[in-house]
Amino acid sequence: MKTLIVKYLPSGEASNTKKLLDIFLSKIENYPTETVDLLNIEVPIFNELSIKSYYKRNYNNQTLDASEAKSLEKNDNLIKQLKSASNIVLACPMHNFGYPALMKAYIDATAFFNETFSYEKKMMSGKKILTIFSSGGEYSNETFNFDYPNWNSIALTAHATFNFMGFDEVKTIGTSLRGEENTIKNLPKISNEITDIVNKWYK
Ligand SMILES: Cc1cc2nc3c(=O)[nH]c(=O)nc-3n(C[C@H](O)[C@H](O)[C@H](O)COP(=O)(O)O)c2cc1C
Repeated sequence: MKTLIVKYLPSGEASNTKKLLDIFLSKIENYPTETVDLLNIEVPIFNELSIKSYYKRNYNNQTLDASEAKSLEKNDNLIKQLKSASNIVLACPMHNFGYPALMKAYIDATAFFNETFSYEKKMMSGKKILTIFSSGGEYSNETFNFDYPNWNSIALTAHATFNFMGFDEVKTIGTSLRGEENTIKNLPKISNEITDIVNKWYK
């Protein structure tokens, strides 16, 4: 039962998100994990060759030549790794009300037709995915609409994309640890939320 941790923590050791991720990790110490640090790998972004190759192979079932296959190699490796895990945890700060660009790039690089989603089958069934984030403001993780402060598009993107991919469970938990007051108020609450998820997912 492997857990794949995909992290983008540009604030390094000072990261608020890292505090939340560390709480999660301290509770699953006895379970195997694998980590992808998005600051240490090159996350592929579609270009003219790779998107053409993706359509050709994944939608039209055609064989790729060597350079076309090469253009999708990084995607294929990330997808294989993603599919090898039972639980996936994405950890990042909120940037501009959503996933920061590199985390969204990872999602776009791994949401592949006939590999991680299809229109008929729940391709990621049997797996669960959790996003842990921290933000400056405070937002609902359940409600998204155009009225401030319901602008948590991390939750919106996660629920739309990962439910579409067929995950058994999609969760997002996030909070603000900005300043001492917020930290004192929010850290125990989110720590309990993390414990609840771990107790449910790791029996
Ligand atoms: C580029 C950038 C964009 C941000 N955008 C938002 C935002 O849209 N909403 C918000 O509440 N906080 C926003 N913040 C604040 C961070 O989400 C917050 O400080 C978070 O705790 C940082 O996490 P970290 O310490 O792990 O980097 C932003 C911060 C940066 C640097």
